[in-house]
This record gives sequence, C-alpha cells and structure tokens, in this order.
Amino acid sequence: MCGIVGYIGKSDAPTVLINGLRRLEYRGYDSAGLAIIDDERIIISKSAGKVSSLNERARTDWSPDLFSRSTLGIAHTRWATHGPPTEVNAHPHLDRTGEVALVHNGIIENYRSLRARLEGKGHHFYSETDTEVLAHLIGDCDKGDLFQAVCDALHQVEGTFGIAVLSSREPEKIITARRGSPIVIGVGDGETIIASDAAAILAHTQRVIYLDDDDIAIVTADSVDIRDLHNIPVTREIAELGFDAAAAEKCGHEHFMLKEIHEQPEALANAIRGRLDFNLGSSVLAGMGTSPRELADLGRVVLVGCGTSLHAGLVGEYAFEDLADIHAEVQQAAEFRYRNPIIGNRDLVVAISQSGETADTLAAVREANQKGAFVMSLCNVVGSTIARETGRGVYLHAGPEISVASTKAFTCQVAVLLMMALKLGRGRRFSREDGIRLAREIEMIPALVAKVIQQNDHIAEIAGTYAKCEHAFFIGRGPMYPVAMEGALKLKEISYIHAEGFHASELKHGPIALLEKGTPVIAIACDVPGKDKMLGNIEECRARGAHILGLVSEGDHETAECMDDFITIPRCHPLVATIPAVVALQLFSYHVARLRGCEIDQPRNLAKSVTVE
Ligand code: G6P
Repeated sequence: MCGIVGYIGKSDAPTVLINGLRRLEYRGYDSAGLAIIDDERIIISKSAGKVSSLNERARTDWSPDLFSRSTLGIAHTRWATHGPPTEVNAHPHLDRTGEVALVHNGIIENYRSLRARLEGKGHHFYSETDTEVLAHLIGDCDKGDLFQAVCDALHQVEGTFGIAVLSSREPEKIITARRGSPIVIGVGDGETIIASDAAAILAHTQRVIYLDDDDIAIVTADSVDIRDLHNIPVTREIAELGFDAAAAEKCGHEHFMLKEIHEQPEALANAIRGRLDFNLGSSVLAGMGTSPRELADLGRVVLVGCGTSLHAGLVGEYAFEDLADIHAEVQQAAEFRYRNPIIGNRDLVVAISQSGETADTLAAVREANQKGAFVMSLCNVVGSTIARETGRGVYLHAGPEISVASTKAFTCQVAVLLMMALKLGRGRRFSREDGIRLAREIEMIPALVAKVIQQNDHIAEIAGTYAKCEHAFFIGRGPMYPVAMEGALKLKEISYIHAEGFHASELKHGPIALLEKGTPVIAIACDVPGKDKMLGNIEECRARGAHILGLVSEGDHETAECMDDFITIPRCHPLVATIPAVVALQLFSYHVARLRGCEIDQPRNLAKSVTVE
C-alpha cells in the first residue's frame, strides 16, 4: 500500500527519494509524488502511474542543478482510497499557503467534518483526498512552530496515520508521526531517512528507530528528537536492521517471486534452526513466553489473519487439533472484532501476519487483548506493529519478502505453526518418541522443498497447457484443503485467471456445475488421509470432461496414472506435506502468469501490506 520516504542530509534529495520509492514499489500503488524545498519555496512533482513516470516527470520539470542542490524532501507512493489515482490526488499535498507539504499513509476518518469546518474558514480543496484536509489543518494550526502545529492537528484527527511534513518556513527539518501506520527512521552518518518500510532505508544505514503510536519526531540531518503528542520527550532504542540491500534485490532472477520461491529451503532452515529439541521431542519457541502449565491449561487456539496468512492459519487449525489435541479454529481477522468472538483467558489467539502491519489483523489483536486472551503473533517483519503490540510470539526469519504474492512467508508460517503444535502436543498428548519423530520430519522440510524446486522446468512445461484457461478449480482434502485454497489464491493474484479452491467433497454441492470439457482441476492427491475419496472426486471431475493436474506422492504411480499432468511431492507426514505441495503450486502459478505476460511482482490492484480496514 502507500509508501513514505523522507530525506534530510547531504546527498541529492530527489534522487534519494525516487530510489527510496522504487524500494517501496513492491507494496502496490498507483501514483507517486515528491516535494523538495528550494529558495524558500516548496516545489512538487507528481505523476499518476509508476515511480519511473515520476522520475521522468521530475527530471523534465526540474533542472539537474535543482536536483543536486536539494538535500531535503518527502515523497510518496499512493494506493488510492479517497478518489481515483490521478495526479491531483497524488501526494504530497499542500496547505492553503503552499508553505506546508504533507505525505500520509492511513485514513483520516473524520476528514469530512474537518473539511467542512475548514471550508467554513475559506479553505479551498483541489483533491478528493483526506490527506489534503490534514495538510490544510496543519497549516491552519501553524502559528510559527511546525512541530506544535502538527501536534495540534493530530489531536483533532480520528483514524490512522503515518506522516512526514515539510515547511518552507522551517526548511532544516522534517516532522514525522504515526498512529497505526508504521514509520521507521534510519539514522545515518550526517543524514536521516524516514520511511514507512525499512526497505527504503537499507541502502543508507542499518541503524533504525521504530516510532510507536502517537510518537512525533523532529528530524534533522543529524538528530532525531522524539516526543509524544503532548510534547513530552520519549526514548526509543536504535535497532539494527539485520539484513542488507542485497536481500531486497532480484539477484539474477526474473522476478522477486521466483527468487523468493527459490529461497524457501534457506528461509525454512532459518525459521526452523535452533527451534527443535530432539532430546525432549519438542520445540524451543522462547518468544511464546508461556510456561508449560499455561500451555497445558489452554482451552483453545484461535488463529487470525488475512489472505495467505489466513490460509496458513487454516493449516495450523489441522495441526493444533491433530498434533496437540486442542480445539483450534481460524477466524478472518476482518470479522473478528465485528462479531462477538467468545474469547477468554484460557484461549490462545495467534495473529499471523507477514508484514505485521495488516490493519484487520492488528484490530483483531487489540480485540483479543481486550478480552483477556493470551495473544501472540507470528510475523516476519521484525519490529512491526503487530509483533510489538503482542509482545509475545515467534518471528519467521524468512528475510524480506518483496513480491506482493506471498510465498516464503507462507511456508515459514506453516513450519512455525507445526513447531508450535508440537510444543503444545508434548504437554498434552505426544510421547517423547512421537515428538522426536515429528521433529525429525520438520527438520526435513527444507530438503523436501528443494526437491520440489528441482522440478521447476517440468512445472514450467506443464504450465503451457493452462496458460490460456479462464477458470481453474483447486481441490484438496484434510490439510490439503487449505493448500487448495492457497493454490487458487496464488493463481488468481498473479495470472488473473479466475481460480477457486474447494474441499474436494464440496465440489459436487455446487461448483461442479461449472465444469466443462477441458476445465482445469488441480487436485492435491498426495498420500494423506482421505486420498481414496479424493480419487473418487477426481473421477467425478474427469467424467465431466475436466483436465486434471495432480499433485501426487513420489512413487504413487497408480494415482499419477489418473492425471492428465502431475507433479510429485516427496513422501512425508501429511501436515508437513502441505509445505512442499504449496511450493509446487507457487511455481505452477508463477509459470502460468509468466506465460500470460503478467506483472508478477506487482499484480494490479493488490498491495503487499494492507494497512486500511
Ligand atoms: C495482502 C497481500 C497478501 C497477504 C495479506 C496479509 O492482501 O496481498 O499477500 O497475504 O495482505 O498480509 P500479512 O502481511 O498480514 O500477512
């Protein structure tokens, strides 16, 4: 979604800002803009479309000399919410005087009443955005002290914000603040970079400060002064990012998605390393912060997430019930706080989120906290809002995931959920021997995934048969049912083929009406409980002319013979097999999308991290 970059230092600010925006492109956006100060005036360049158009625009409008003498500015990529992705709606927005510029992530929920009030005072608005209203409000509050003006304005807004503000009257600083939308400040050598995502900071420094909600900072080239909205100083630690710029490069791969699929053996090894205890037949997940007694007393596990993370939760549901003998259920984070979730202090709520910033998942965390549940998170991005608000949980260590379609985060989420279920299971149901056996299976996951990746060329060849289809159905049973849903999501996200995932049995209760001669059905028919019934379901599809691509267990020639095409999945524990099976479907979707010429890393309309409800 929207991205913010701010820079103050010694380098040519427009170039730094545009490079920073490029690093944020993966998040999904539809227009971009930047503001600098020159000769005591704010100058803005904006463009609908990509950062490359903004770059061309700025380089046409502004002289090379202007580029090189500007050492301070703010920039933004906008994912349209209020008003279409036009140049006029793109950020930065100016206040009435044109002396204050603002970039903003999030939503100002009371912008209509603020706008009406400002219009009553003679303000005129050019855009349809909530952000322009905030820019005017800051300008209206500015009585000669930008910091105080931002504080005063933020006291009046409802909603979420991550902002960066410039004033031509105070051209040596940027004011930045957050509530519900992340801001990271990179502390460089004689330069400071503000961003909504550390990816834009990597090229400059590893030293970062994460703002907390309602923090507001006065940033100069060599200082960061953080206060709360009542102007009381607060202290925030400087953290090390722990990954370098190369982690956010394609490293020879055609797309980030392909790179991230290939990174999975290593990512999974990092997620698993040091977390299995072969002596006790359990797992070591210190971040869960729960005593064995608390774990034994738990009444239920509730998993919440959105999109791909929700699908990881669905696999987790099977894992907790099968392995740990504990009632588990998955709830869509978006619904969680709008229904009446029956949650108590013996319930464990696990928030699953790659980014740790998804607004719906964050809202679910807050609701669960309010209801007194044990809340923990499973995040990839270190220091993200959900990770910090839960305080307890397990990091994935998957490394930066740039492609909008999630791959390595999903498989690491499932691996960590299996380890959590193993830990709970040992306190409830598992013998030491059972635990050791499962730990050995989990340890093998990176190698199992590597075996699937070796079939890349074969999968690329198969993809040709499916690249022209309009619809596709994915079916599975047991833990392969969520795999079918994730496979369908991946295909629709990046190839724009209409794809749906169903429980194989559910097909005949409706969706089978859609099957015609040649309709692709992707059947996850690995050797898991219910496979025999799965074979029956495949026959039902075949009888209606469907073209079947099967995922079959290695050596299962009989099942392979029922398929028009097949991909083999190494034999392993049925829950563990969900991971290599999903990797096969990731590769399948990738190659289909590539053959269709789609923009794989940044699919239309999608955002990497959805920070609005
Ligand atoms: C967006 C992304 C999905 C992702 C979902 C949840 O919709 O496009 O790929 O699965 O958000 O994101 P999270 O960061 O919470 O896992």
